[in-house]
Parts: sequence; C-alpha cells; structure tokens
Amino acid sequence: MLSTRAQWAAGQPIGELMAQALQYPELVSLAAGFVDNATLPCAEVVACFEQLSADASRLRASLQYDTTAGSRSFREVLAQWAYHPWPQARPAVEQLIATAGSNQLLHLITEALIDPGDIVVAAAPTYFVFMGTLKGAGARVFGVSSDEDGMQIEALKETLEQLDGQGLAKRVKAIYLVPDYDNPAGSTLSMQRRQELLELVERWNREKGALVVLWDNAYQLLRYDGEELPPLSAIEPSCRRFVVELGTFSKSFAPGIRVGWGVVPSWLLAPVLEIKANIDFGSAHFNQVLMEIALRDGLVDAHLPAIVATYRSKRDTMLTALEESMGDLPGVQWRHPRGGLYVWLTLPNAVDAAESGLLWRIATKLGVLYVPGVYCFPTEGYPPQRNSIRLSFGVQSHEGIRRGVQMLSQAIRQTLTATV
Ligand SMILES: Cc1ncc(COP(=O)(O)O)c(C=O)c1O
Repeated sequence: MLSTRAQWAAGQPIGELMAQALQYPELVSLAAGFVDNATLPCAEVVACFEQLSADASRLRASLQYDTTAGSRSFREVLAQWAYHPWPQARPAVEQLIATAGSNQLLHLITEALIDPGDIVVAAAPTYFVFMGTLKGAGARVFGVSSDEDGMQIEALKETLEQLDGQGLAKRVKAIYLVPDYDNPAGSTLSMQRRQELLELVERWNREKGALVVLWDNAYQLLRYDGEELPPLSAIEPSCRRFVVELGTFSKSFAPGIRVGWGVVPSWLLAPVLEIKANIDFGSAHFNQVLMEIALRDGLVDAHLPAIVATYRSKRDTMLTALEESMGDLPGVQWRHPRGGLYVWLTLPNAVDAAESGLLWRIATKLGVLYVPGVYCFPTEGYPPQRNSIRLSFGVQSHEGIRRGVQMLSQAIRQTLTATV
C-alpha cells in the first residue's frame, strides 16, 4: 500500500529523539538542538507587529499569498543584509528563494537533483536530518573524514576519484557541508580548505559534469570566538554556477517564524521553483514581512549580541564541566567549537554509545539524554563511529548543563568498568 518513498523515509532518528524528549521529560536533555527559550526575540516581534498594525494596507497585503520564490521586497532586504560583510558576493534578488526554513530548501534541492541511486558526499559526521531527507529520496550518502577544520578536502578528492574509478562520476550530484560551527561536530571549514574545495569542484565541473556544493550555513551568525570566514561566493563570485548557499533565521532569531533562504544557481532555480509550486507555491508571506521589518529596523542585528553572549557562556560552562568531570578519563576527547550549539565527544573504542548500547541504558537511567553520534554518520565511505556523542548546550540552563555532564561522566565511568 505504502509508496517506496514512504518506506525509504521510515525510521528517522529525529522522530525518535523528539519522542524520547517527550517520553522522559524528567531527564536532562543534552540532545535537543533547540535554541534557548530565554533568547527568543519577544520584544522585537511585538515591535514588528506594532509597525505592521499601524499600516492597514501593508498588513492586509501581508495576509495574502505572495510568489513562489517569496516576497520580492523581503528578498531585496535579505540580499543586502546576508551579504553585508561581502558586497562583492551580493546575489541578484532573482537567485534568492525564501523557504519554510532551510530544511525545506534542502528538500527541494534533493527533489530537483536526486534520482534513486544518485550519490551525495558529506562530512562524516554530518547533519542527520538532511541524511534522512536524502535517504527518503533513495540517495546513497558517502562520508568523508573530517576534523576541527571540517571536511578533509584531500579525503574528499580520494572519495570522488574512487567513485569516478567505479564509473559513478555522473551519479555524484552534490557535496553537502555545514561550513561554520557545524552540526554535529562544531567544526569550521578552514580558509585553506574553502579554497581547496573551490578548486576541486571547479575542476570536477569542467572535466566530469555538474556537481553542486550545498553550503548550509545555519550557524554562521552564532560565532563566539575566532574570525568570521567568508562563504564560497565571497572568495570566488563565479562559483555561484555550482554552489547553493543556504541560510536560516531559526538559530539567529526565532525557529518558530521558520524563514530560511538560499542563493540558487540559475540553471537549478526554475526546477526548484516548479517543485516548490507543487508543494506550497510560496512559503508563509506574513512571516517574510515580519522578517523584512525586523531586518530593515535593525532588530535582528540588535538582538544577535544577546544570543551570542548567552550561547558563548553556555558553551564555556559545558567545556568547563567536561574538563572537570572527564578530564582524567583516558580516551575521552571533545572538540572546542568556536560557535554553534554543539560539542562533539569521542569515547574509548570499547564504548558503544548507540541506543542499543550499555552507555545509553545507564545514562538514561541516571537521568541524561544525548544524541548517539552514530546517527550522524553516512552509511557508506568513512565508517560510523559508535563511540561518539553529540552534546548540545542550547536548551539547558547552566545548572542543567553541569548536572547533565556530571551524569554523563558517571555513566561513562560505569560503562567503562562494565566493559573492561
Ligand atoms: C545544519 C542545519 N541545517 C539546517 C537546519 C534547519 O533549520 P531550519 O529551521 O531553517 O529548517 C538545521 C537545524 O537544526 C541545522 O542544524
């Protein structure tokens, strides 16, 4: 009865994780990637409403449908705002699409590019929700090893060469990256790797055929230290032929408004819009008008420092708690993210952190939830690491972070004792 696509889409970890958080509300969740309720821009949104309610015709217009690509005046403001530090890379408004969060654009691009059996290459580990989208379209996802500086471009090159050697060059459709403070590993693609990536994909496009880079910059604005690194289009504007740059207000303003966007190569734009027309012929206009006012009036920029300060101090609380409670544990390591919402933890090889493993059972019994890192590994290429964990410092209070990390440390110690 059910379609093949429904079967491919079954068993998504995101559904499981959400259900667990609801099932065990008494547990300290270091799993949820939600933003902190206290950072949500209530006063700013009220100010936008007030402005809108003072202009009856604008309010009326905002309650009507707009175009499939989204409100033009919103996209004009967005093009300026999003590329403000890099005016040379400011996109034409026609290339910019507004979507219901950046997840929707990832989905639309998947629909436009992927036939069953097509290949996407991603960092290992990577954003597991998008892997679910790809799985649902029948794609094969190959993982490439990554470190603090993001995807290793040398390893990417080897993976592409291997696939080419197997006669699969034409099946490789996209490379997916979360370049800044990524989900789940908190890594940032270094400047040198940005340049190497551009060269590699430019050459592949010249010699082998179309290969798209999906540059998912969901966390770009959540920067706590280190310098701001440019997107690919700011390094080489001509790369817009094969790069899709995606952004979202979900992390930097409010996920409940759910406005995302993307700059899409001209040849890919029409198919993406046709597919979007079949789905919703335009995302919520009202939300775009709200974001247009928030951008024009500088409310997003004014609110951002408070968000950044909150998460910076929570990140520091988590790193300190890890040092204090696990610093003495051999084989336990974690990354120091320069932004974003996540800390990536690697445990001794013997520890299985997956849901079927001992650590999970002990941790949930003690009262703490985490995301098993194994969810974040593509099924092919670089092997999944069952001894890894994603921790989020977004939702919990400082006290919750400390308690959660302490319980996790206890759970790891008990697991190690039981497995030795
Ligand atoms: C890497 C990454 N991309 C995209 C998204 C989706 O965000 P949106 O709410 O804009 O769909 C998320 C959300 O957690 C994310 O972590």
